[in-house]
Formats: sequence, structure tokens, C-alpha cells
Amino acid sequence: MTVQTTPVRMVLDCDTGVDDTLAILYAALHPAVDLLGVGSVWGNVDVDTATGNSLHTVHLAGRPDIPVARGAAGPLTGAPPVFAYHVHGRDGQGNAGTGRAVGRPAGETAAEQIIRLVRAHPGEVEVVAVGPLTNLALALGLCPQLPGMVRGVTIMGGAALAPGNVTEVAEANIWCDPEAAAAVFRAPWPLTMVGLDVTMRTTLDDGHRARLAAGGSIGGYVSDILDHYLGYFASVAFGERRSCMHDVLAVAVAAGTLVPTLAPTVRAFVETGDGPTRGQTVCDLRGMYMGFPPQDGASCRVVLQTDPAFADEVVALIAGAGDSAVPLDREEHA
Ligand code: RIB
Ligand code: CA
Repeated sequence: MTVQTTPVRMVLDCDTGVDDTLAILYAALHPAVDLLGVGSVWGNVDVDTATGNSLHTVHLAGRPDIPVARGAAGPLTGAPPVFAYHVHGRDGQGNAGTGRAVGRPAGETAAEQIIRLVRAHPGEVEVVAVGPLTNLALALGLCPQLPGMVRGVTIMGGAALAPGNVTEVAEANIWCDPEAAAAVFRAPWPLTMVGLDVTMRTTLDDGHRARLAAGGSIGGYVSDILDHYLGYFASVAFGERRSCMHDVLAVAVAAGTLVPTLAPTVRAFVETGDGPTRGQTVCDLRGMYMGFPPQDGASCRVVLQTDPAFADEVVALIAGAGDSAVPLDREEHA
């Protein structure tokens, strides 16, 4: 097994709700990642709430040096954004956030930040997007040479064989902005799709929460924000208090700390029509009965299997992170 010694330079784009918070913490804390910047985007919550949560999270991790840039407030087409407060709480932190504003956003947009950081390290930066792909599509529009300058792009989004989680076939990050996602899938960069096929199968339960709570105050905070999230998934997906982990899997696959056990590279595109399949990721998996032989025009590595025990590693990392650098008592507002 190859042990990667140089940390992967990463820019992480998030619609910071509960699972995005775990993804930022993992990226900020794990020695295999050199987190250069975080971008925020609308999605789970409005972009200002996402930006505030991202700032809070990098400070929570003791990494106020990581810049957070505010991104798009809605989809590329100008259609009104639809948020998921019912999943992530009104504050995007399971209604258990501190309510504190910590730090200030960078003086550039999230798309501009992606371009600047990629240009500063040509061929080295992995762009990881775990919200709607609006910022990434905007970056492509601003810098058409971007695909030739990145190490790769990894997204949490889509569903190859699994059902959707917004419609029968569409996953939330793709469904929110299918036009942006289609542009990202069409661009000539190495794309890895970490979708519901694996993110629904790596889950956290109250046992994990107890281990987090037994760590320092960072673990305690994460345990608190997961409470509402577990309740949501109990009612809509699992029938018991358990939540999927989603976004942190994309960070770990990009960092090489989670190695997929099945991830063919195939043709893939996003459906942008107005019918019932809008937002579907269509992946050509017809080679599956032959061990996925090489395919002409294949451009997307689709992650189909990972080890569900990865959840324990995430919990151990965060529980072992010690105490927060920011106060975690709830700010009282008049
Ligand atoms: O479908 C799950 C994805 O949608 C996750 O990234 C979650 O945070 C939301 O953005
Ligand atoms: Ca997300």
C-alpha cells in the first residue's frame, strides 16, 4: 500500500450545514490535507449562514489562518434558491450552534478564491465541492483554463445506482443547480463523484455521538449539532437514529485517506431537462458485469464502494482534537 507523505493541497467548497461542518473539521485537522481555503455556497442554508458556519468551523478547529470566501447565493439560472433548514436546522448547525459571528470573509468571491489558489499551485490543488456546484461553474466561466491547472475535482453529489434524496433520481447538490453540475461534468478535468451510493452507507449513530462527547469540547460541539440531524434521518431514511456522513467522504477520497474499493471511470452526464429526471447523474455502468473495461470518452471516476468503518476514523480524529479555540456557549440575542 502506498503511503502518501505530502499533504494534498485542497480548496473546499461547502453549503455549510451539519455534515459540511464535519468535512471542514476533517480537512482542517487531518495531516494528509493542506487546506488552502474554504468557499461557501447556498444550498443547505442561505449563503450568509453557510459563510458564518464555515468561519466558525475553521476557528473551532484552531485554524483561523484558513480563508473563507463567500460564494453564490442561488443557482446559475437565477431561479430562486431552495434551502434545507428542515434537515440542518435554522442555523445550519442542528439548531445547536453558538450563534456567534467569528472572523470575517475574504475580500474575494469563492470562485475567485478557487482560481487564485489553483494558479498559485498549478497541478497541485484538488478542488472538493460538497454543495451545489454553482461556485465551480462560475470559476470555469471566469477561467476556462482551470481544468488544465487543477490536480482534480472531487464532488459529493449525485447517485449512480442509489436512489435520489430529493427526487426519485436526483441527489440534493446536483438537483439544486443542474446547469452548474452539467458544466462541471462536461469540463475536461479529472472528476471524482462521491455520491449517495457510498455516502448513505457510512453512518453515525448515538454511540458515535457519545464518543465525540467524551472527547474535548470540539467533539462535544459536533455531538450536539448531530442530534437534530440523526432525528431527521430516522424519520426519512433509516427508521432509527442514524445519519449518513456525506461530505467528509469526498474530502477523504480526495485526500487518499479513504480508498474506494470500487470506483470505475465511466462516461457520466447530468440531466438538465424539466421532466422528472431533472438533476439525475447518468453514469454509464453497462460494463459492470465485465469488471468495467475501459470506455471511450470516460471522464468521471464514480465511487461505488467504500469501507463503512471509515465513520470510526472520523469520530476518532474529531474526538481527539481537544478543546475549541472559540467559546462554545450560546450567544444570547436581544
Ligand atoms: O445530498 C447530500 C448533500 O446535500 C450533502 O452535501 C449535504 O450537505 C447537502 O449539501
Ligand atoms: Ca453539503
